[in-house]
Amino acid sequence: MQQRRPLICGNWKLHHSVAQSRCVIRQLQQLLPPTPMHIVVAPVAVALESSCRIANRSQAVAIAAQNVFYAPQGAFTGEWSALHLRELGCRFALVGHSERRHLFAESDTAVAQKARACLQQRITPIVCMGESLPQQQQGQTQAVLAAQLTPLLHALSPRQAAQLVVAYEPIWAIGSGQAAQPQLIQQIFTFVRQLIQQLQSSTVAQQLRLLYGGSVSPQSAAAFMQQPHVDGLLVGGASLQPHTFVDLVKQAHRGWLAATACRPQ
Ligand code: PGA
Repeated sequence: MQQRRPLICGNWKLHHSVAQSRCVIRQLQQLLPPTPMHIVVAPVAVALESSCRIANRSQAVAIAAQNVFYAPQGAFTGEWSALHLRELGCRFALVGHSERRHLFAESDTAVAQKARACLQQRITPIVCMGESLPQQQQGQTQAVLAAQLTPLLHALSPRQAAQLVVAYEPIWAIGSGQAAQPQLIQQIFTFVRQLIQQLQSSTVAQQLRLLYGGSVSPQSAAAFMQQPHVDGLLVGGASLQPHTFVDLVKQAHRGWLAATACRPQ
């Protein structure tokens, strides 16, 4: 069985102008060390075209969209499709970030349809899931994750599901400065892989990449990457400044290398 390739994705949200996005991508190309990890950044939609043009000149950093619509075309004012993303040279798309689920009412079904549309165009979807603080306090984390994952995994063929990237981002950890404990993430990911095995197969459960997101910093990156089930990180605030993000990538690489020998294959 092939080892899962680690992935670090910076989610820039509604930050950086188009010109700043270009500038930060150029800086990352100069500053990032060679690494077997996938390094990805997600600029605002209107910066995607120029960001892809610059990023695709080298292998250092790939571009993700922050959102995508599920239909390929039609009367959907304001949307763009996975077909457009492929045309631009975008290789990844965030799907179902908690801000989209809550501020823009994206349902689990819509998230599943978006992920499938991406995979049909050979765009890797990074599907986000996670529980709120009250849900966590009431012990509902596993039930929430099962409700979010089930329609997604039912919508995909085994081949498609194996290519998914799933990011667990507890809402209480996003932008709060209170990252989850790495050991808690290992426990939750053990449950998530078991669930994927039930809903799809053990092969899919072993191949699918799981990321953690929520207040990750250069200081905490290595500890997360040392957890055997953690294949990468989704990073908001700490991805905005190129030097901080590069530092975080280096720490993540260090943590991953330290744990590689004991990772399940
Ligand atoms: P944060 O954001 O790292 O600033 O908590 C993560 C995210 O929302 O993807």
